Amino acid sequence: MLSVKNICCIGAGYVGGPTMSVIADRCPKIIVNVVDINKERINSWNSKNLENLPIYEPGLSSIVRRRRGKNLFFSTNLEANIASADIIFISVNTPTKKKGLGAGQASDLKWVEKCAREVAQFSKGHTIVVEKSTLPVKTAEVIKEILEASQSSIIGKNKKSFDVLSNPEFLAEGTAIRDLEEPDRVLIGGENKEAILTLTSIYKEWVPEQKILHTNIWSSELAKITANAFLAQRISSINSIGALCEATGANVGEVARAIGSDKRIGSKFLDSGPGFGGSCFKKDILNLVYLSSYFGLTEVANYWESVVQLNDWHQKRISKLIVKKLFGTITSKKICILGFAFKANTNDTRESSAIKICKDLLEEGAILFIHDPKVTPKQIEDDLGKKEISKKFDLNQLYSLPEGNWSYSKSIYNAAKGADAIVVLTEWEEYSVINWEKIGKDMRKPSWVFDSRSILVEDRINKSGLNFWKIGDGSKNTF
Ligand code: UDX
Ligand code: UDX
Repeated sequence: MLSVKNICCIGAGYVGGPTMSVIADRCPKIIVNVVDINKERINSWNSKNLENLPIYEPGLSSIVRRRRGKNLFFSTNLEANIASADIIFISVNTPTKKKGLGAGQASDLKWVEKCAREVAQFSKGHTIVVEKSTLPVKTAEVIKEILEASQSSIIGKNKKSFDVLSNPEFLAEGTAIRDLEEPDRVLIGGENKEAILTLTSIYKEWVPEQKILHTNIWSSELAKITANAFLAQRISSINSIGALCEATGANVGEVARAIGSDKRIGSKFLDSGPGFGGSCFKKDILNLVYLSSYFGLTEVANYWESVVQLNDWHQKRISKLIVKKLFGTITSKKICILGFAFKANTNDTRESSAIKICKDLLEEGAILFIHDPKVTPKQIEDDLGKKEISKKFDLNQLYSLPEGNWSYSKSIYNAAKGADAIVVLTEWEEYSVINWEKIGKDMRKPSWVFDSRSILVEDRINKSGLNFWKIGDGSKNTF
């Protein structure tokens, strides 16, 4: 078993950044180099002001403060850091292919392939290459082929050797540090026992050995996308029941509590919301769909695809419902959006339900005032594909503004002032302590509050003279 002195991670994103920070923290004797092609991102990782790290993740900045410059380094110097590494983690993004074979379903592996070629070119001696990104089954084989092909014409002592392992990351954003420090399990898939034990030796520094699972490489790759597919399936299931609750007078929170107390079902991941978002769920399910179709398993493909379809339908259902409640039209009406991130405690907006719901509302002509404690206006602009409107206008001028526009609001209260509706889309803690009495006075009547996350206290809202709609609650919704 190799004694690990130096590791390198390619990709300083939401997975690579926190994962390597925790490894550096728990293994102070190992030098951890995180490299990325994005110079701006690396500069932010190296920023003196820890508020400027590119990723907002509770607990991350204090680890970076402790380890950066000691055994944790962020740089764009791929060549030198690959050359000195005993283990290289590949943690780059693998977006869904937009065109060509498998478009809309298969993952685009161009970055992973590029990394494999870079490792082949710059590494020295024996190197363990670890897949950290979530990848379609059989990607390890692609990496292995690229690495081996690079050595086929080399003979003698210059010949390099490689082992490829799959070590998927199960962290969820917003709780990444806790998930990394106390994982339910660490999964390592591979063929070579020595390599598996070498990687295990790193995790053993803080993870109990019985939680480190060894599997064959394809089981490991498939387990990651299956875990995400099962989690996403639970959300589509509970959201489908939420719609039925609204229609029948039942309450999805009560149903979830009742079914969740059955140990076989379990209580987690049963919160009905505006639909699942994030960089993984949709992409991984679509990968599963592609894989199943590829192997001629049409029914399996259709089964998993329906989880994504239900999610799309559910997001549309919410925007339609908002329009319906506001007398069938929201043209030139001010709507306050609370939360743009795909979940609380992250600045990540990838696949956020807020993007789709806001786009629908803009399409209907609304003027949106968007608040989020961590997402920047620039990010919202990129996601909506629309520039923010100039802030210098009076609320009386809403009808003279071009229809379907948005503005960023630093303050919840300014965002709500004069609005016809407030829509809660992310479960940020601060939204659960809003002063509804104050807001109620400032909104245009009749006014609505739509709580897609079930985080508001309805009594307080009703007392403030506002109409209230809560996801999946057929018993309290004021129709
Ligand atoms: C997420 C998932 O966690 C991962 O499992 C999935 O496969 C892709 O999306 P994440 O870390 O969140 O990964 O992605 P992202 O924040 O986009 O970070 C990837 C980083 O890799 C970026 O900073 C990008 O600049 C970098 N990159 C990409 C390289 O350094 N080199 C490349 O060749 C390509
Ligand atoms: C997910 C997996 O949880 C993680 O293990 C994997 O490594 C990456 O993908 P992440 O996307 O960061 O993590 O967040 P997660 O907490 O799983 O939430 C995903 C989406 O589901 C969010 O939009 C969230 O709001 C939604 N969700 C989650 C619900 O709507 N209801 C729930 O009960 C739980």
